[in-house]
Amino acid sequence: MEPIDRRGFLFAAGAATATLASAPASAQTHNAGAIFLSTWDFGVEANRRAGEIYAGGGSLLDAVEKGINLVEDDPNVTSVGYGGLPNSEGEVELDAGIMDGATHRAGSVCNLHKIKNPISVARLVMEKTRHTTMAGDGALRFAIEMGFTPQQLLTPKSLEEWLRWRNASKHETFWIDARNHDTIGMLGVDGRGGVVAGCSTSGLACKIPGRVADSPLVGCGYYADAAGAAAATGNGDVMANYCTSVFIVRRIAQGAHPQEACDDLMRLMARSAPNLRDDMYCVIAIDRHGEIGAASMNSKQPLQYALWRNEGGTLHTAPALLG
Ligand code: GLY
Repeated sequence: MEPIDRRGFLFAAGAATATLASAPASAQTHNAGAIFLSTWDFGVEANRRAGEIYAGGGSLLDAVEKGINLVEDDPNVTSVGYGGLPNSEGEVELDAGIMDGATHRAGSVCNLHKIKNPISVARLVMEKTRHTTMAGDGALRFAIEMGFTPQQLLTPKSLEEWLRWRNASKHETFWIDARNHDTIGMLGVDGRGGVVAGCSTSGLACKIPGRVADSPLVGCGYYADAAGAAAATGNGDVMANYCTSVFIVRRIAQGAHPQEACDDLMRLMARSAPNLRDDMYCVIAIDRHGEIGAASMNSKQPLQYALWRNEGGTLHTAPALLG
């Protein structure tokens, strides 16, 4: 997670005022405009950017892509894009996916090196090819062909953290630390049938090169269809095994409120493997009407989520299944 002093900040940009709240997600109401729901505190600014893009005439896909770009570009976010913590060999290895619920088309990239905006490459996979997922060197070559410029993604800060890990006399290998799971997941609906989900991450720090977890897998890290959308953040090696996002959206399609659908997923995980209760598993969801849900497994590792509605942004803490 981001350092504690970044928690609870109030964002000053724009006319909106962010407030902290711990009200259940189900208590929110909706309007007919675009609504954006994102993971973590960096989601506040990402939502604001998405709202600006949408208000300026951009599509819902434009809004979600550009909103996520803002987090990918931020060198201070060490779990996404530029400045993301690298794999065990010191290479920043990015994953992202985006899905348009109206067309049921998705695009994703995994193990992408040297390109700081994997969500934009994922969108081009969706829009310019007949494929859904591209990985590794092929994804990099595709990105270059699409006009992206390769660059060094390590920052002095992420290099220093990686060197500290590598040079530690006894470092835990493929260690699990909550701060390295802060995927940006963003969901958007426009009240006119548009539903989009996207997510982007550098994944687990010091991961084995080539590791793919939930974020770039459609139905796992992100999913959208006509009924709604969902995204996941947390230990993606485990969450991928539950196909979390498609589980939640299917429950919404069956009539569940997004909060109920998120809670159902957490209950399923806790029931199926009690050892999961102590790790970080978090989800967000929205239905096509703008009703939202958010949940985390336990209150020791709570999910903060950002909501953009009525052209204003708020930051909330999701209800946890376990105290
Ligand atoms: N959920 C992001 C990851 O584990 O890579």
